[in-house]
Amino acid sequence: MEGSRRPGWHRLGPAERCSHLASALGIERDEVERAVRDGGIPLEVADRLVEDVVGTFGLPFAIAPNFRIDGRDVLVPMAVEEPSVVAAAANAARLVREGGGFVTACDPPVMACQVQVFADDLATAKARILAARDALVQAAREADPGLAAAGGGPVGIEVRTVDADDPNESFLVVHVLVDVRDAMGANAVNTVGEALAPRLAALAGGRTGLRILTNLADRRLARVEARVPLAALRMEGFEPAQVRDGIVAASRFAELDPYRAVTHNKGIMNGTDAVVVATGNDWRAVEAGAHAYAARDGRYRPLCTWRRDGDDLAGRLEMPLAVGTIGGATRVHPGARLALRVAGADTSTRLAAVAASVGMANNLAALRALATEGIQKGHMRLHGRSR
Ligand code: MEV
Repeated sequence: MEGSRRPGWHRLGPAERCSHLASALGIERDEVERAVRDGGIPLEVADRLVEDVVGTFGLPFAIAPNFRIDGRDVLVPMAVEEPSVVAAAANAARLVREGGGFVTACDPPVMACQVQVFADDLATAKARILAARDALVQAAREADPGLAAAGGGPVGIEVRTVDADDPNESFLVVHVLVDVRDAMGANAVNTVGEALAPRLAALAGGRTGLRILTNLADRRLARVEARVPLAALRMEGFEPAQVRDGIVAASRFAELDPYRAVTHNKGIMNGTDAVVVATGNDWRAVEAGAHAYAARDGRYRPLCTWRRDGDDLAGRLEMPLAVGTIGGATRVHPGARLALRVAGADTSTRLAAVAASVGMANNLAALRALATEGIQKGHMRLHGRSR
């Protein structure tokens, strides 16, 4: 969508914002309003989506302006209950825009199904499974021909040995790697894993245990880089260099202290989750993957860091992001469908790029406030809309 820079956006009312959105999308305002009204989901749809429904539960649905991601202007849908998160994202996006915008690089959408395999002789079982790798990938492809036809499907098999203190408790874990294209992928990989399990048990001369995806989607990383020119960091009462160095020092705090890193990452998830929720995706999966990735080397670390680069401030974020643009709620939830359209997220990778960029924006906004006037004053000012 062209033109995400919308001065005065925060001064409009919801109906006016809907009108702008409608004209940007080339649809009637009524269509936009119907998609976001009453939590964006009709009761009959909610009743089909989950069990034992009595109603629907709404969240504010906002559109953050100013984002430029990979050379494209993006209006960002955010569903979130916390005041100032949307304003903070929009504000930081305006700063990053002055440095050219967010630049992303996302991995292909590869997810893994874990199949747990028990056998008396794990070394032999592992060798036999690895020797049959090509045939297993072919069998996995036949388990979901639709995915292969869409350009995805199984791409590899890995075998890990999980050693327990008592060797009798040790087992193998077969990771069936599947390119899930535009799906979040849980259903796709679980189908493939269940289909392969009997064959794996036979090869191992043993039995299989659990067959389920891993939410540590470390094959599906989203990376974002951003640069803020020194002049853009000007703030009342602070020199731009003070702001920049304060943000770098705040980043170092998170790099050195896990207690701070958790809060730092929570600020990232303020933005990322808001996009994930607005687009009908599984935020628990994204949260679980993000925090596990943050602790991948045994110590919990920040997902986004900031450095001085010349005079400028430069940031880098890396996190797993398993999100989809097809299937699940993205298919049936009118609000989620509108959100995907607004974000221009026509592929899962593009949606991941947007969600990760918004996470980075919220992190930048939080560190800028924390390193200067403090979060209470900074966020209150944003919430008070003096932007
Ligand atoms: C509040 O929702 C998020 C922050 O705590 C993040 C941070 O401390 O970096 C402000």
